[in-house]
Amino acid sequence: MKTIGVLTSGGDAPGMNAAIRAVVRAGCESGFRVMGIRRGYNGLMYGDMYEMNLRSVSNIINRGGTVLYSARSPEFKTEEGLQKAIKVCKEVDMEGVVVIGGDGSFRGARDLSLHGIPCVGVPGTIDNDIACTDYTIGYDTSMNTVMEMVDRLRDTSESHDRCSVVEVMGRKAGYIALNAGIACGATSILIPEIAVDFEKDVIDRMRRTQKTGKRHFIIVVAEGVEGVGSVEEMAKRIQEETGVESRATVLGHVQRGGSPTVRDRVLASEMGYKAVQLIKAGIGNRVMAIHKEEVVDYDIFEALNMQNEIDLNLYKIAHEISI
Ligand code: ADP
Ligand code: F6P
Repeated sequence: MKTIGVLTSGGDAPGMNAAIRAVVRAGCESGFRVMGIRRGYNGLMYGDMYEMNLRSVSNIINRGGTVLYSARSPEFKTEEGLQKAIKVCKEVDMEGVVVIGGDGSFRGARDLSLHGIPCVGVPGTIDNDIACTDYTIGYDTSMNTVMEMVDRLRDTSESHDRCSVVEVMGRKAGYIALNAGIACGATSILIPEIAVDFEKDVIDRMRRTQKTGKRHFIIVVAEGVEGVGSVEEMAKRIQEETGVESRATVLGHVQRGGSPTVRDRVLASEMGYKAVQLIKAGIGNRVMAIHKEEVVDYDIFEALNMQNEIDLNLYKIAHEISI
């Protein structure tokens, strides 16, 4: 019986389970033996895997996290680590591996592909920082979580006439900050893609809106923004310069958990299913993507060379209407 593997790697993201479910179900229906590989590339290097069947993935479509667990695996990046993984793949006669993760995980998939193990990448990360795809699995859920949390901060900020400075995840990208920031009506949104002038972008904006009667403020800061200090330092500076009592919040890993949204479940299901169809057709070295609402696939090398872009127009609109 032909064997395929599925693993989740890097930071977990809501919707990874829906993708695993789709891979396992589509794989079993296509007559493959489907091996669930635990803890990303660690499981591949050490043969930590088990055979999954249609029922192994019951009741997981609604769950955050990943039933296969995830890990960052520095050892896999070494030549010895890669060779260990290749040896395990050969031992189980692996026809292909579906790698659910971010761009780091795709680099690992590319290395395996170069050594004759066909891999198909499925983009799973809250950061949405994979250039070839308009959306990654987990991004929508994470943005909605951020929105809900910042709405709560707004309640208490309003009650106390305060400013809330909120740090959100995204690694080096500002997608979560920009979109959740707009959705929460943030006075300022700071993202790594746009150089920050704290005096102009935050203090002056707050002063201007203060003059029109505004008394509470939300400032959303992407974690990847450099040169402005920590959110605590920003809150202190805001308080000193504007007189508005300020508090800092780092949302942290709550942004990675929770039940996936409809959008993430559907995206994960379609991508997982189509990844298996590629392997079935003998096609490897691909990355799944969604472009203009259509699920497509790209060559893995091509995908890794694409550059991320952020919607500058959206950033401009956000600032024009948050006064
Ligand atoms: P993500 O996949 O979310 O971007 P990481 O960047 O941590 O997360 O990558 C996940 C794993 O993928 C790493 O722990 C490592 O095992 C593998 N990986 C990352 N970068 C590379 C690389 N340049 N070459 C080979 N493998 C890599
Ligand atoms: O890539 C997902 C992500 O949550 C980033 O937004 C964040 O920078 C990073 O992972 C946090 O990693 P860790 O879980 O190792 O703290």
